[in-house]
Amino acid sequence: MCGIVGYVGHQQAGPILLEGLKRLEYRGYDSAGVALLDGAEDLLVLKKTGSPDRVGALMRQHENAAHTGISHTRWATHGEVTDRNAHPHCSSDGKFAIVHNGVIENYQAIRRFLEGQGYSFVSETDSEALANLIAYHFAKEPEQPGKNRFTESVRKSLLHVDGTYGLAVVCIDRPGEIVGARKGSPLCVGIGQGENMIASDVAAFLNYTRRVVYLDDGQVVTLSPQDYSITTVYDESVAPVERQVEWNIEEADLGAFAHYMEKEIFEQPKALENAMRGRFSDDCSTAKFGGLNVEPRELRQIDRVVFLGQGTAYLACMVAEYFVERYARIPVEVEYSSEFRYRNAPLDKNTLVFVISQSGETLDSLEAMREAMRKGYRTLAITNTVGSTIARENDGGIYQHCGPEISVAATKSFTSQLVLCAMVALFLGRMRDLSYAEGRAISQALRHLPGHVTQVLNLAEHIQKLAAKYAHFEDMIFLGRQDMYPIALEGALKLKEITYIHAEGYQAAEMKHGPIALINERCPSIFLVPRGESLPKMLSNVQEVRARKGPVILITNAPESEVANDAAEDIIRLPDGGHEVLDPVLFTVPVQLFAYYVALARGLPVDKPRNLAKSVTVE
Ligand code: AGP
Repeated sequence: MCGIVGYVGHQQAGPILLEGLKRLEYRGYDSAGVALLDGAEDLLVLKKTGSPDRVGALMRQHENAAHTGISHTRWATHGEVTDRNAHPHCSSDGKFAIVHNGVIENYQAIRRFLEGQGYSFVSETDSEALANLIAYHFAKEPEQPGKNRFTESVRKSLLHVDGTYGLAVVCIDRPGEIVGARKGSPLCVGIGQGENMIASDVAAFLNYTRRVVYLDDGQVVTLSPQDYSITTVYDESVAPVERQVEWNIEEADLGAFAHYMEKEIFEQPKALENAMRGRFSDDCSTAKFGGLNVEPRELRQIDRVVFLGQGTAYLACMVAEYFVERYARIPVEVEYSSEFRYRNAPLDKNTLVFVISQSGETLDSLEAMREAMRKGYRTLAITNTVGSTIARENDGGIYQHCGPEISVAATKSFTSQLVLCAMVALFLGRMRDLSYAEGRAISQALRHLPGHVTQVLNLAEHIQKLAAKYAHFEDMIFLGRQDMYPIALEGALKLKEITYIHAEGYQAAEMKHGPIALINERCPSIFLVPRGESLPKMLSNVQEVRARKGPVILITNAPESEVANDAAEDIIRLPDGGHEVLDPVLFTVPVQLFAYYVALARGLPVDKPRNLAKSVTVE
């Protein structure tokens, strides 16, 4: 939702904070700001709507050698996108500056109380209430031996807060210190030599250190250049667990690509190889996972699997349902995490819960996972972010290893989730009735998938021409059956989120039950038509749309003998991967490319679409 970076150490804070914000811009880009503490008397706060570059321009107008500072890039929750609502926010006594990611649910009550205590407010944000609350406690907190008055003021303030936060605070009376805290929004500490950092995501400080401590909910950290200490919000000391960041910052660089989305689409062959690496059995008849932490005999008893996710991850859950029911013959339920969290679903005791989340920080999915675990269900996660909250709190899980995904639109993370869901289905199926031969056929097909994806990527030029031809439309419909229905939904989501075209995905047979009323020459339809049993019916649906002057793009891996070149205005012919298990991935790549090239044709900010953020850490 928002990105936070803090620095305290022997270097100038300003440039480091700006560099960190640029690395976190995918988390939100409505506005940005920095607070620089230069000595004990000078708290400089610079903030503007728009990109961190605008704050950089402001910084260059101020001589500032500060070695302590915090910064923020915002995705607005409370208060419009204005300079005044940008972070950092200061206490009205001028002593504190805070950057905050999350939602303070009781901020109006806190604000009313503080106004009664003489504190004033200049913004509409919930975060400003926190800044004044900390100032209020600091004014009351005595200096005590062995206690840090600054830390105590933050800690005691948080005891009165309902809601979520990942925050960092500086105090004009405590130069060389930063206090941070987290509850529901990610926060981690980068440990350097004579310098320490705090950030929403390790990408902000990976150029300076690979040593990281991930904070848990309810923890408060105090940083100085030489040291850091962690307690709970109830003042219990915490022994930090230091980890090493596995990936290199270069993986997050754009390289020769025009956008991160383009880079991540074209990285998919490699991402899929990484997802599968070391995860097939020696005889290649099943899959194996190192981190599930569950005994085969327990899995053998499972009689229902629930998949939970939001957005694109939810659509991966929908595909997983087809895979697991087809290959493992286990009933599956798919739910939005946000629904499961509150529905109090009556589930069988032998239910296995999977949470799918690229970021591992989506609060809806994190809370749904916590709810499933509270009810005692074995809860596993498929996530791409090592050290994320979902990764650290689950009963066991599977890392996607597809490298950092920077663009707001999920691409490589989605197809790697699909492959891993196919492998989970294979793994569970081979514990049941899936034969050795069927298992080997699936494994062999999956191992060849990266090569087939490369062949689809070679169609990019053809797809870009189609995108230019269709980029002017304001409505589009995607249609598919069976496991192509979630891919139709994903194609519509990609188009919606980066081109702002009103796009919908439907189950193709459903068209006749209402949506076909939308069809005319101004509303193109994109049909996903794999070879196989649904093909004849899909071709009939295509003709029903064409009979009503609806333009059609037909994506198929069937031969020309089954889908003639005049079956639609435009056809995208995919390679036949030889096994139906590959279809969801192979049909996803063209709809990703189509959305990307339409956004280009419309001159839109592909990686930072309006109103969106990469990781949604509010419910
Ligand atoms: C997809 O392109 C969007 N970025 C969004 O729907 C995303 O999939 C959703 O917010 C879930 O994110 P997660 O996988 O990190 O939990």
